Amino acid sequence: MSLLEVTNVKKIYSTRFGGNKVQALSNVTFTVEEGEFVAIMGESGSGKTTLLNILAALDKPTEGEVLLEGKNIVHLTEKEISAFRRKNLGFVFQDFNLLDTFSLRDNIYLPLVLAGEDHREMAQKIRPIAQALHITELLEKFPYEVSGGQKQRAAVARALITSPRLVLADEPTGALDSKAAAALLSMFGEINEDGQTILMVTHSAQAASHASRVLFIKDGEVFHQIYRADKTRQEMYHMISDTLTILTTGGEAYA
Ligand SMILES: Nc1ncnc2c1ncn2[C@@H]1O[C@H](COP(=O)(O)OP(=O)(O)OP(=O)(O)O)[C@@H](O)[C@H]1O
Ligand SMILES: [Mg+2]
Repeated sequence: MSLLEVTNVKKIYSTRFGGNKVQALSNVTFTVEEGEFVAIMGESGSGKTTLLNILAALDKPTEGEVLLEGKNIVHLTEKEISAFRRKNLGFVFQDFNLLDTFSLRDNIYLPLVLAGEDHREMAQKIRPIAQALHITELLEKFPYEVSGGQKQRAAVARALITSPRLVLADEPTGALDSKAAAALLSMFGEINEDGQTILMVTHSAQAASHASRVLFIKDGEVFHQIYRADKTRQEMYHMISDTLTILTTGGEAYA
C-alpha cells in the first residue's frame, strides 16, 4: 500500500464576501511510497502550499481523496487528525510559524511537550539536530532576535525533532544561503536514508536535485514528473532546469 494516495484533488477558495472564487488546485493525482524523497515545484501561486496544507489535514479539499495508508484523512475527526499529526507528521511552514513569546529551544520542544515527553529526553533529542543545523548557540534567543534563515532552521528543527514518518516542508531552504541550504539538504538526505518520507516544496533546481523524484505543478495539476533513478545529481539538476524552462515558457516536457 502506498503511504500517500492523492486522487483528483480540487481546491476552490471562496473569498470572504463570497464573490470571487480562486481555483488553487484543479485536479491533482499522485502517489507517494514510504521512503521516497519527493520535491514539488511550480510557479508562485500554482497551489503548492495549498496542496501541502491539504496533505497535513490543515485544510480540506473541495473535491477528491487523500489516503494516508489507505485511510481517508478528509473524513477523520479532529481528534484523529491531531493524533495523526502528532505521531506521523513534521511540517515546515513557508512562513516558519514560530511562537514569538517562546525561545527557539521552546519552539523546537513544542511537539515533544505536546506528546508529554520529559525534559531529559527533549534535551537529548535537540542536541544533534541543533548541531546539524548550526543553531546550538541561538537556542535561548527569541524569534525576533534572530535572522530569517536562523528562524527557518529552527522551524526545520521543530519539524524533525519527533523523527516523523512523513516530513512536509514548504520551501525549507527559501531563506538560507547556499552553505546553510546544503547542510539542510544533506540532513534531509540522511533522514530519508533512514526511512523517513519527505515531500519538499522548492523553487530551487539545486535543492530539488537532491530528491528521488520531482513533481511539477502547473494550472492546478501535476504537469510532469522526473525520477532520479540512476541519474547523477548534476544530470538531475539539468533535467529539472530544462523542465522549469518548459513550464514557464509553454511547450512539451520530455520524459
Ligand atoms: N486562503 C486563501 N484564500 C483565497 N485564495 C487563496 C488562499 N490561499 C491561497 N490562495 C490562492 O490560491 C492560489 C495558490 O496559492 P498557494 O499559496 O497554494 O501557491 P504556492 O504555489 O504555494 O505559491 P508560492 O510559491 O508563492 O508560495 C493563489 O492564487 C493564491 O492567491
Ligand atoms: Mg507557497
